[in-house]
Amino acid sequence: MTQSISEKLETVRQQALAEIAAASAEGQLYQLKSRYTGKKSDLSAVLADLGALSIDEKRQIGGLANTVKTDVLQAIEDRLSQVVQSTAAASFDATAPGIPCVVGSQHPLTMVLDELKDVFGKMGFAVAEGPEVETDYYNFEALNTPKHHPARDMQDTFYVSDEVLLRTHTSPVQVRLMEKQKPPIRAIMPGRVYRNEEISARSYCLFHQMEGLYIDAHVTFADLKGTIDAFVRNYFGNSVKSKFRPSFFPFTEPSAEVDIQCFLCNSKGCPVCKRTGWLEIMGCGMVDPNVFNAVGINPDEWSGFAFGMGIERIAMLKYDVTDIRLFFENDLRFLEQFKHV
Ligand code: DAH
Repeated sequence: MTQSISEKLETVRQQALAEIAAASAEGQLYQLKSRYTGKKSDLSAVLADLGALSIDEKRQIGGLANTVKTDVLQAIEDRLSQVVQSTAAASFDATAPGIPCVVGSQHPLTMVLDELKDVFGKMGFAVAEGPEVETDYYNFEALNTPKHHPARDMQDTFYVSDEVLLRTHTSPVQVRLMEKQKPPIRAIMPGRVYRNEEISARSYCLFHQMEGLYIDAHVTFADLKGTIDAFVRNYFGNSVKSKFRPSFFPFTEPSAEVDIQCFLCNSKGCPVCKRTGWLEIMGCGMVDPNVFNAVGINPDEWSGFAFGMGIERIAMLKYDVTDIRLFFENDLRFLEQFKHV
């Protein structure tokens, strides 16, 4: 009796292992699991009938039935993991196209700034930066613009306190740089500036400027003109001419504003250049001796020029943008247009 039960169990084991080894799908294996180890299986039947056997037989047959069950369950586990792995490998197609990732684009102001850094970098200008929250001293006083100077009205200022303000231009970085570094100095200073102006298509409460400063022995107005002309040709096109118009800034003497030929209408006259054929792009001049004195540079030994331009203005001209607010609203419909420029 015991003999025949153990033979039967052995047959069950052989048959189960053979079928498990031949199974090639997960579902098949789950079926085999229930057929060989479930409630209605031969194994369960043997275990249910143990009551009729002697204690020794119970121990022998019970033990055997349990090993058969463990072996079958283990074989099913092993085969399952093989089957799962090989299905995953078979469904991987190395030739399938990749999942495209969404590529963003640079902000147009970043693009313009990078281009400007590149053009001036090739002319030997390093990049310097300064704080946006500035003192009255750096923003005005040291730039030859004492309190009550009428030129302060040229820039509507956000004051934090009597002596602290949001910088209205990047010119204070010139002062900080000259305090830190002995001449020769050749640097551009880009950054954000703030003005308490009414917001419109043409002006915004914050915008960007790029300052330039070149100080050495014997720097002349001719160097300023040559540098600006080279910049205009490099940046706007080799045939674009520039001209200097006399102007006033407290920190430069003499001072000028630079106009370039309107490349939108080929100087014929259009709404953007207000029918003049010329576009104003920057202010500049020779560093005023008072500014040199404020930073302890001897004006008899050194001379230099400075310039400052609005980045939004350049970007608006270059990409034909008619409303400055678009640069700050982060509307994707606007920003996405610069993806492949
Ligand atoms: N800071 C001036 C402004 O915001 C621009 C400027 C003019 C900067 C002349 C200069 C300069 O360095 O020499 O309007």
